[in-house]
Amino acid sequence: MSLGGAGVQPDPLFDAIFERQCTRSVYDGRPVPADDLTAMTEAARVAGCSVLLVTGKPKMEQVLELIIAANTAQVEDPGFVSELKHWLRFNPAEAVSLRDGLYSACSGNPSLPSWIANPAFGLVFTAEGENAKCADQVRSSAGFAVFVTDRNDAEHWVQAGRSYQRFALAATALGVRHAFLNQPVEVARYRPELAALLGAGDRRPDLVVRFGYANPMPRSLRRPVSDVITAA
Ligand SMILES: Cc1cc2nc3c(=O)[nH]c(=O)nc-3n(C[C@H](O)[C@H](O)[C@H](O)COP(=O)(O)O)c2cc1C
Repeated sequence: MSLGGAGVQPDPLFDAIFERQCTRSVYDGRPVPADDLTAMTEAARVAGCSVLLVTGKPKMEQVLELIIAANTAQVEDPGFVSELKHWLRFNPAEAVSLRDGLYSACSGNPSLPSWIANPAFGLVFTAEGENAKCADQVRSSAGFAVFVTDRNDAEHWVQAGRSYQRFALAATALGVRHAFLNQPVEVARYRPELAALLGAGDRRPDLVVRFGYANPMPRSLRRPVSDVITAA
């Protein structure tokens, strides 16, 4: 048997892979046209997972309230803060040497020498400050996409990730940016409240993504695949 010359099937989601990023900035407030919202949710269709869109301002404020409540719980949890700090890269030298974690420039924060950043972090990372950032981010966004799954098992966690990735690529292809605000699913006691607010019934919110329009931000660095997956 030989392979035929079927040619390359162009796919806008494939073409968006290099452009996609989590854009953690304040957006410009413009709404996303209905046709584009439909295309993004259609692209995200996978078995066992649905995308619930929230674009009305009053409902977005209610989701923001849960984000702020859960964010406050996280910022006041010393275990969470120490793990977060472990993953922060405060300047280009740290980002390039480790090639993982969250580089400050990706979130619009200034670059600082490690000897200043480490002691200063506890002073500037406050619930009040972080909550104000979340509020600006949400109020400048066009909406939320919440990924809800039918069951809480490994198969459905993967389906939520696939659905998100397809949504993110379709959004990117349409010039729409996105970022996670997952606090209400990360702090377990807020997850049922989020499900009730969205009318999700028995389904489980797994990922909370805001979307809208903004310029790109600096990209996250990643280690090469050969660094993290080795052949047996
Ligand atoms: C399951 C999951 C949950 C995440 N939750 C958050 C979050 O709540 N807030 C946030 O700022 N980033 C969150 N991130 C975003 C990652 O930090 C981001 O994907 C990573 O920095 C890679 O950057 P990129 O997506 O721009 O390439 C999450 C990522 C994953 C995979």
